[in-house]
Amino acid sequence: MKKRPETAESLPILGHSGRSAMTCAYRCGSACAREAPNTSDNPYFGDILDQVLSRRGFLKLGAAAAIVLYAGARPSPAGAQPARNGGRRSGLTFEPVPPNDLDDMIVPSGYDYNVVVRWGDPILPGAPEFDFENQTAEAQSRQFGYNCDYVAFFPLSRRGRESERALLVVNHEYTNSELMFRDFDPEGTSQEDLERIQIELMAHGISVVEIRRRRQGGYEMVRSRRYNRRITAQTPMELTGPAAGHPWLRTSTDPEGRTVLGCLNNCAGGHTPWGTYLSGEENFNQYFVNAGMVEDRAKRESYERYGFGETLPPFGYRGWERTEERFDLAEEPNEGFRFGYVVEVDPFDPDFTPRKRTALGRFKHEGAETTLSRDGRPVAYMGDDERFDYIYKFVSSRKMAKGNGPRARKHNLTLLDHGTLYVARFSGDSPQQEIDGSGELPSDGAFDGTGEWVPLVSGEKSFVPGMSAAEVLINTRVAADKVGATKMDRPEDIERNPVNGRVYAALTNNTRRGAPGNPGPDEANPRTDNKHGHVLEISEEGDDPAATRFTWKVFLLCGDPDDSSTYFAGFDKSQVSPISSPDNVTFDERGNLWIASDSARALPQNDGFFAVPVEGPERGYLRQFLTVPFGAEACGPRITPDERTIFCAVQHPGEVDGASPDDPASRWPDGEQPRPSVVSVFRQDRGRIGS
Ligand code: FEO
Ligand code: CA
Ligand code: CA
Repeated sequence: MKKRPETAESLPILGHSGRSAMTCAYRCGSACAREAPNTSDNPYFGDILDQVLSRRGFLKLGAAAAIVLYAGARPSPAGAQPARNGGRRSGLTFEPVPPNDLDDMIVPSGYDYNVVVRWGDPILPGAPEFDFENQTAEAQSRQFGYNCDYVAFFPLSRRGRESERALLVVNHEYTNSELMFRDFDPEGTSQEDLERIQIELMAHGISVVEIRRRRQGGYEMVRSRRYNRRITAQTPMELTGPAAGHPWLRTSTDPEGRTVLGCLNNCAGGHTPWGTYLSGEENFNQYFVNAGMVEDRAKRESYERYGFGETLPPFGYRGWERTEERFDLAEEPNEGFRFGYVVEVDPFDPDFTPRKRTALGRFKHEGAETTLSRDGRPVAYMGDDERFDYIYKFVSSRKMAKGNGPRARKHNLTLLDHGTLYVARFSGDSPQQEIDGSGELPSDGAFDGTGEWVPLVSGEKSFVPGMSAAEVLINTRVAADKVGATKMDRPEDIERNPVNGRVYAALTNNTRRGAPGNPGPDEANPRTDNKHGHVLEISEEGDDPAATRFTWKVFLLCGDPDDSSTYFAGFDKSQVSPISSPDNVTFDERGNLWIASDSARALPQNDGFFAVPVEGPERGYLRQFLTVPFGAEACGPRITPDERTIFCAVQHPGEVDGASPDDPASRWPDGEQPRPSVVSVFRQDRGRIGS
């Protein structure tokens, strides 16, 4: 039963704070507990600019002079551009959900929700019903996977009813042995333990599920013979693009370096205008052992830059090498270079071999949402979700073909193999001494400035001295270090707003910002100990996603609005909801920004969805739309084309320290063991979401 609390005060607060060690271990290999792997001396560009400006003889400085000339010729700031829906109200009228700690989905008054698909639900014809006590890898390979994350919606139906039937495509980011299995033994080597590992391999990957609208609102799954599909960590995939076949991608089982088994840790993703699904491999480092035993020094150093552990992953050890030798880098030293890509899948073709697109680089890919340049070429925005890592953009060199005929389809499946990969460099326009880490706005009233997309590689041409094109695409972090990319506070989803054309980047948090031995605040990452993250708003020059220059400003500095370091685009903070750790984003038809939080309880409240107008008098008026059950993270969000439904992937319900099947911290959704699930949220009167 859905609970609708009346006031925040009436709700029980259990008092946990900070992400559970369990979530840290299984999701990202406890990355936060370790030093960030970016130890490059790549300085903040603003510092260079300050130095240059302080020296009158800047024309002697060569490359730096170009910066100054560029700064002088920069496009007008974002705020000076005419707002295409300026003055228009957001249309958001829902009553915000108060912060709470309940073990349930809480949606606004007048809304309802239903579970569309849960971990273990049979999705392929003939798959057995879920049996928590008797799981098998064979069953899991035909059932919905664990820890659903990114959600895409591909309409199937005829024109005019395009939201009635659809394909729901969902990533399964990671597994948690301690919650999936009773009496889990991390050191176990019995047949049962090995089967447990195979179950986890099958619970990773991607699910394609046909859904149809229910008469009472929301969606239900169809056990479709035609479309439903499981892609797992064992599904053969093709490596494509300039790095495919490179010696570093060859293994004993794949001497050509072109075929990989499976994708790992698929977090956010994207859906393309040509009807395919993109899925980003994120914390892939945590599945491998013995990176320190790789003989080639360059490979060892590369593994270090990507956070692989010398022997074991420092935390979150899975023991997968016990049944799959490829996860032991001492045995298969190149296998780790075959993960960390954006994977493209045609959800309409169940026989499609997923393709790892090397042209989009290799890093801890969060999402890869796409848009089209002014001349019709696909552009994908991408974050590398690690403290002090970078924001990237891929611009295809080919135009998208219109239509859905076989020729157009064939052509469009080449778009992500040909193009230029850029990394972002941000420069602030305020003096560095005014960026003191407190979150207090500088004297010009904004954390803002200019930026450029620095090319790393274009087709077979590398722009990075000493690195070939393939090397840039395999060691993308190293290449970006060399060109002076800006170290960001964990870039998550980055997406272009189809209404105002600006690009919104979620920087989820970075508590090491300004800590001893770590980079201090800069104007684009202006808070030290950035517990709650921020959102950047980027305006591409000429409103063209293919531009190489942009202006930017901080749109939100997240946290409890009572915290003086927070900022909600200047909106009255007494009216906004507390939010921590923005992660996935999307937009509604009016261009309002929707944000999913992965706060890991940095504020003592459940995660959820938030909606915030980006234009007009309500710009910055952020309200919480829903909260997810205890211990869960809110993922998605995805709004249907008719705006009558929003999907939420409820990831890792009940994932708090000490929880186990014998003592679960959540019993959502069925009053039994917690099961990660996708829900559809709808208005009881079937009206538009949010309004
Ligand atoms: Fe899997 Fe960056 O969140
Ligand atoms: Ca400024
Ligand atoms: Ca995410």
